[in-house]
Order: sequence, then C-alpha cells, then structure tokens
Amino acid sequence: MNIVVLTGAGISKESGLNTFRDEGGLWAGHKVEDVATPEAFVRNPALVHDFYNQRRAQLFESAVKPNAGHLALAEFEKDGKANSFLLVTQNVDNLHEQAGSKNLLHMHGDLLSVRCTSCGHKQADWKEQHTTETICTACSVKGTTRPDIVWFGEMPYFMDEIYKALMNCDLFMAIGTSGHVYPAAGFVELANAAGARTVEFNLDHSAVSHAFDEHLLGSASETLPKFLKNI
Ligand code: APR
Repeated sequence: MNIVVLTGAGISKESGLNTFRDEGGLWAGHKVEDVATPEAFVRNPALVHDFYNQRRAQLFESAVKPNAGHLALAEFEKDGKANSFLLVTQNVDNLHEQAGSKNLLHMHGDLLSVRCTSCGHKQADWKEQHTTETICTACSVKGTTRPDIVWFGEMPYFMDEIYKALMNCDLFMAIGTSGHVYPAAGFVELANAAGARTVEFNLDHSAVSHAFDEHLLGSASETLPKFLKNI
C-alpha cells in the first residue's frame, strides 16, 4: 500500500503550538500581509524576523514536544507496513523530526532553516535569533538571509515529488489542516483521481471535507493512533 499523509497546524496544536485560523491562532495576532509575504519582508524585515524568532524559540520550550499523533505516524513508518510512506507537512516546526519521521517533506519550509538571498545557501539547525545583521555562513555577506519559509505568493517546495506520490497512492490522510490554502488543499482531489481511499482527521470539518471518503472527527492524538493500528 502506498500512503501519502498531509499534516497541518492542527497536529501540532496539542503540542502547544498555535494553529493559524483557530480562535487566538497566529493570524489572530498578526496580519498575513505584515509577516508572511515577500513584500512584508522588504517593507519591514525586523518585524518579520521577530515573528519567526518568536515561533522558533517556542520549539525549544520543554513543554513543546511531539504528541501521540506525531509519534504514531513515525512508528507506523518505522514498522514498514506500507510499500511507500510519504509524510508531507505544511508545518514549519520540527515535531515530526523529533518524533522520528524520516520520509518527510516540509512543503512550506522550516523554522530551523535560514536561506541566503544572495548565494542561495540554506543553513539548517538555526537555533539563535535571526536578524538583519545576520551574516550568511557561506558567502559571509551581512543582511542577505531570510527565514526559509514559503510565504504567500511563493511556490511551495517539493511539488513534483508530492504530485508523483499522490498519483500513485492508495491511501491519502489529511490531518489537522483547514483546507484553506492551496496547493495542499487540492491534494485530496489528486488522490481521489488516483483511486485512493481518502481520510480526513480533524476536530471539525474543513473547507474540503466534501472531497474525502471518510472523516475521523476528534483530536489527532486520539484518532490517528487508533486508525494506524487497524490498517
Ligand atoms: N486534532 C485535529 N485537528 C485539529 C486539532 C487537533 N487536536 N486542533 C485543531 N485542528 C484543526 C482545526 O480544526 C483546523 O481545521 O487543524 C486545522 C488548523 O487549520 P489552520 O490553522 O488553517 O492551519 P493549516 O491548515 O495548517 O494552515 C495551512 O496556511 O497560514 C498558512 O502556511 C500556513 O501552513 C499554513 C497553511
């Protein structure tokens, strides 16, 4: 069985990280156009750096760790029950890595990576403050690095690999995502076209619930381990 999993902010909510559109979520405190677009970064790089510095710092708080949902996915992948298992995340946190997931693609980038707009170098495992004074570790130019996050209006990463996996999958699972942001919200349609079984795991209904064969309503930390035990 070929499996593709898509996760969103909902799987990290129970680990203490805010979602975007829930009550009190990340977009409640900020306007997308002020912190998550290339234009915002040109207009006010310090504000954008501050937004991502705060979110990066949260990852190192002792209370923020993988929950049963993250761990169940990593366990299932390790058990090797699937012929192929691809985990695509819209999340930029490192909770899937901490849980032990291996075949993992961050389609919206990664909080722990910074990218140089001058030489293109990506510095992984970036833990400290990232500012306009930061010097690229490859070309040594100051002030040319940016968060390695895919902002609105930019092309998500790994799309060829993701589309290929979706065309060949037998099971597509979307976990903790509201289905508001494309192209991720459209993955279920590709999985349906491939004849896959499509299952949505969410506390509520999403904007694309109509396209799924099945819905497991509830917290992913409960619904996901149960589901994975029985496939
Ligand atoms: N278990 C399952 N689902 C949950 C849980 C939970 N414990 N808690 C919240 N959810 C669901 C919510 O019902 C909602 O549908 O998670 C979803 C979170 O939706 P969003 O906040 O919109 O996050 P996401 O879908 O990941 O956003 C997609 O939008 O802002 C951009 O780039 C950003 O990657 C992000 C993209």
